[in-house]
Amino acid sequence: MRHFLKTTDLSAREIIELVQDAIANKGEHSNILAGKSLGMIFAKPSTRTRVSFTVGAYELGGHVMFISEREMQLGRGETIEDTARVLSAYLDGVVIRTYSQDDLERFAAAATIPVINGLTDERHPCQALADLMTIREYHDDLTKVKVVYLGDGNNVSTSLASVCAAVGAHVVVCTPPDLASPEWAVREAIGLAAASGGVAEYTTDPATAVRGADFLYTDVWFSMGQQKNPLKSRQLEPYRIDEAMLAQTSPECRVMHCLPAHRGEEISAAVLDGPRSIVYQQAENRLHAQKELMKRLMVDAQA
Ligand code: CP
Ligand code: NVA
Repeated sequence: MRHFLKTTDLSAREIIELVQDAIANKGEHSNILAGKSLGMIFAKPSTRTRVSFTVGAYELGGHVMFISEREMQLGRGETIEDTARVLSAYLDGVVIRTYSQDDLERFAAAATIPVINGLTDERHPCQALADLMTIREYHDDLTKVKVVYLGDGNNVSTSLASVCAAVGAHVVVCTPPDLASPEWAVREAIGLAAASGGVAEYTTDPATAVRGADFLYTDVWFSMGQQKNPLKSRQLEPYRIDEAMLAQTSPECRVMHCLPAHRGEEISAAVLDGPRSIVYQQAENRLHAQKELMKRLMVDAQA
C-alpha cells in the first residue's frame, strides 16, 4: 500500500514525472477513478486542499466524502486504528488534514487504503508538489533553480525544502534563529540534496539568502492551531517579502506563497498583488498535481 505522508514517499524520479504529467494533463476529464470513493477527514479549516481534491477526484470520475474530524467518533475516544480499519472497508483513499504527523502515520499504519497528507503541523507535501510544478513551469532545468523561503520554519517550509532538495535544486530556508526548521527537516533536506547534487542551506540572514534567487517564497507567521504572539511577529518582521526585499533580486525573480496570505505581515500587498507574484498559479496547480497523485495511489492500489 502506497501512502503520501511526506514528499519522500515518492522518489525524485517519481516526483519529476508527476510534475511533468501534471503539466501535460491539465484539464483531464476521465473515468480513471470510476467506482472509487475518496474520503477527506479534516481537523483544520481549508479552502484550497478541500476544493482541489474534491474537484480533482470528480474530474477523474470518482466520488468524494468530506468529514469534519469533530463530527466523527474519534472525538469521543474511538481509536485512530479502529477508524482507519473501518474506513478502509468503505473507501478507496483518504486525505487527512490534522495536527500531529504521528497521528497521521498511526492512521496510515492501520489503513489498507492509500492515505494522503493534506497538511499536518510538520509537513504539507501536496503543497510542495504544486509548488514544484509551478517552478517547473518557469524553468525546464530544476537543477539550475534557486528557491529561497523566508519566514517561519513551519510545515510548508519543511516540505518545500525536501522536494526542492530531492530534485537537485538549490533551496535556502531563511528564518529567525528562534524559528528555525526542526532538526529532522534539516537532516532530511540536506540528505536529499547530497543524493541529488542539489543544495539545502539554512540561514538567518535575508540579505545574503535572496542573492541570485529565482523564487522567493513565504508563508503565514501563525499557522493553524498557533496563538498569535507579538514577539514572534517582531522576530519575523525582517523576513517579510516587500518591495525592498524584492529589489535585491533580479527582475525575473518570482514570488510564491501557499495561501492564505496575510497582507502586511509576511508579505506586502504590493508584492502579493504585483506582477512578480505567481500565487494563484500555485493554487491552481494544487488541482493538477493532486490529480496525478490520486492516479498514482488510487488506481490499482494493492492492499
Ligand atoms: N495552501 C493550502 O493548503 O490552503 P488551504 O488551507 O486553503 O487548503
Ligand atoms: N503554515 C500554514 C499553511 C496553511 C496552508 C498552516 O499550517 O496554517
